[in-house]
Amino acid sequence: MSEGTAQAVYPPSAEFVSQANAGPELEQAAEADRLAFWAEQARRLHWDTDFTDVLDWSDAPFAKWFVGGKLNVAYNCVDRHVEAGNGSRVAIHWVGEPGDSRDVTYDQLLAEVSQAANYFTEIGLVSGDRVAIYMPMVPEAIITMLACARLGLTHSVVFAGFSAGALRSRVDDAEAKLVVTTDGQYRRGKPAPLKAAVDEALGSGDDAAKSVEHVLVVNRTDSDINWTDGRDLWWHETVAKSDTAHTPQAHDAEHPLFLLYTSGTTGKPKGIVHTTGGYLTQVSYTFHNVFDHKPGEDVFWCGADIGWVTGHSYLVYGPLSNGATEVIYEGTPNSPNEHRHFEIIEQYKVSTYYIAPTLIRTFMKWGREIPDAHDLSSLRLLGSVGEPINPEAWRWYHEVIGGERCPIVDTWWQTETGAIMISPLPGITETKPGSAMAPLPGISANIVDEQGKSVGAGEQGFLVLDKPWPSMLRGIWRDDERFRETYWSRFADQGWYFAGDGARYDDDHALWVLGRIDDVMNISGHRISTAEVESALVGHHSIAEAAVIGAADPTTGQGIVAFVILRQGQEDTGDQLITELKAQVSKDISPIAKPREIHVVPELPKTRSGKIMRRLLKDVAEGRELGDTSTLVDPTVFDNIRRGNKV
Ligand code: PRX
Repeated sequence: MSEGTAQAVYPPSAEFVSQANAGPELEQAAEADRLAFWAEQARRLHWDTDFTDVLDWSDAPFAKWFVGGKLNVAYNCVDRHVEAGNGSRVAIHWVGEPGDSRDVTYDQLLAEVSQAANYFTEIGLVSGDRVAIYMPMVPEAIITMLACARLGLTHSVVFAGFSAGALRSRVDDAEAKLVVTTDGQYRRGKPAPLKAAVDEALGSGDDAAKSVEHVLVVNRTDSDINWTDGRDLWWHETVAKSDTAHTPQAHDAEHPLFLLYTSGTTGKPKGIVHTTGGYLTQVSYTFHNVFDHKPGEDVFWCGADIGWVTGHSYLVYGPLSNGATEVIYEGTPNSPNEHRHFEIIEQYKVSTYYIAPTLIRTFMKWGREIPDAHDLSSLRLLGSVGEPINPEAWRWYHEVIGGERCPIVDTWWQTETGAIMISPLPGITETKPGSAMAPLPGISANIVDEQGKSVGAGEQGFLVLDKPWPSMLRGIWRDDERFRETYWSRFADQGWYFAGDGARYDDDHALWVLGRIDDVMNISGHRISTAEVESALVGHHSIAEAAVIGAADPTTGQGIVAFVILRQGQEDTGDQLITELKAQVSKDISPIAKPREIHVVPELPKTRSGKIMRRLLKDVAEGRELGDTSTLVDPTVFDNIRRGNKV
C-alpha cells in the first residue's frame, strides 16, 4: 500500500450521521459504566423475569451474565413483533436456487415455529435435549432453530457441506436425540443428496448413533431417499400438521442456546457453547448499531450459511430479535450466472449487504460490468466478515458495489465471541480500508506482547479481550480443561481471553487484524485446522506423515498446501495418488477442506524435538527465501523437497 492510500480515511456522510442509530453517546454511556450499559442493552429485549445481577465473573473464565433473568429467545425474535402489530411485515424473503421464492411474514413465522415446537414436544423432547440441524438454507432450518430456542432445546447446526463423518462425530459428541435434515439440496442448478449422508452418518445395527431417536426430513428436492421406519419422519406429515398456537416458557439467561463446532489446533472440533440472555443481548445490540437497522424500512442480507456462526448471529438471532426484514438465498453466487446476487439486491431493494472478502475478490475477478448492469441504489451500508479484507478489495467494494455512498463495516469476531466485537460504527467512525478500527462500545480489547505488555503503534502483537462480554462462549461442550487451556492459559495471570489472532495499531490507534497466528487456517472465511486435514491425509493407506499449511491465496485468502511422506513400500502413483488424497479429505471433513496442492516429499523439516516447522513450509509454498533454519535437524531437507517437487 502506498503512503497516500494508507492515510486515506472515509468519514460517513452528514446524511448518514444524522439518521444513525449509534451516536457518540453510546460510547460515553459504555465508558461511564460498562455493566450499566450492558444492562440497558439487555433491556431492549423482553425479560419474563428481570435479572438481579449484570455479571458474575467469580468463577472465571466461566461467566454468568444477567444472573437470575429469564427470557424466551423465540418470543423475542418472533412473538413480540406480532404482538406489537407487525405480524404482516416480511421477516424473510427466501430465494431458492432454482428460482422459486417465498416470503415469510412474522405472523407466518410464529405459526410455523409454534407448529415445530408443538411437534418436538409431542415426540418427547424436553428442555436441555440436543437437536442436530443438517440443512441447506431453507426457511425450515431457521424455523427449527427458533423452535429449539423456544423449548430450551440446545441446537447444533452442522454445515450441510460437511461430510457424513463430520456429522457423526458432532451428533455423538452432543448426544443429539433428533436430527433435522432435507432429502436433498440444490447446488449449482442440480439437486444433490443430503439425507443419504445422514443415513451414512447415523449407521445401523451395532454401529448406529445411539442417541438419535428420530430424523425429521423436509422435502426440498423431491428426491428418492432411503427410509428407516420408526426413526424417519416427514416434516410435511408431522410438523406441518401440528397446532399453530404454542405458549413459550421462559428460560434461564444461562440456559445453553446452541453448540457450534469449530476447528481448533487439534484434529477434534470443539463444541462452542453459547447461552441465552447474554448472547441475544449482544447480537441484538450489534445488529441494531453496527448495521444501523431500521425495522420496516431496511432490507438486510447476510450471505453466510446458517452452518457458521455468522449465519446464527446475523441471519437468525440478530435480525429477527430486531424485527428486521431480510433476504435468505439458498444457493451459490454464480447460479445460474454471476448476476445472481445483484439481481437479488435489485429485486428486493436490499439496503444492507454483509459478505466475506473472498466473495468480494471473486466479484472483482468476474469484473465490474456484472454489478454495473444492475441498479444497486437501494444499498446504503456494506459489511465484511470472516477474514482480513485487503485494502484493494475494500476500495472496490466501496466504489463498485457501494457507489461510493455506503459506509463499510469491517467486523471482527469469532465463533467464540458470538457477536461482533471490533468494528466501525457506521454513523461515527472514519474508516480506513482494511482496518476493523476499534472495539465496540462495551467491549474491551488490547494488543499485547508475550508478557502481556501493550505494544506500540506499528508493532505486531496478540489480540486479547481483556474484559468479559455478554455473548462470550461459556465453554467447550463437556471439556472445561480444553476451554481453559485454549483461550485462557496464555495470559492466565491477567485473566485475558486470547483470540488466536495477531494484530497491530497504526499511528491513529486504528486496529488492524492480521489473521491467525496458531495452526488454524482461514480458507474463504472458513476455519479449518491444519491438524484436521493432516489426520485425514494420514488416514490414506499410502501416507506415513503429513504437514499442512495455509499459503497466501489471492482469492480465498489462504489455500491449503499439504506435504506428505509415503509409507515404506508405497509407490508414488502421481496424479492418481493426489486425486485419492483430495477425495479422502473431502470425505473425512468436507470439500471445502480439500488441499489446493499436495506435494509428495522425501522428508519434512523438523526441529530437534520433532516438531514440524510449518513456518518454513509456508515460506517454501509462498516462494519466499527461507527464514531461520538453524533449529532444524537437517537443513538440507529443503533441497530434497524442492528437488523432488515443483514447489
Ligand atoms: O482470524 C479471525 C478471522 O476469522 C476468525 C474467526 O473465525 P470463525 O470463528 O469461523 O468466525 C468467522 C466469522 C465471525 C478470527 O479469529 N476473522 C473474522 N472476522 C475478521 C477476521 N479477520 C480479520 N478481519 C475480520 N473482520
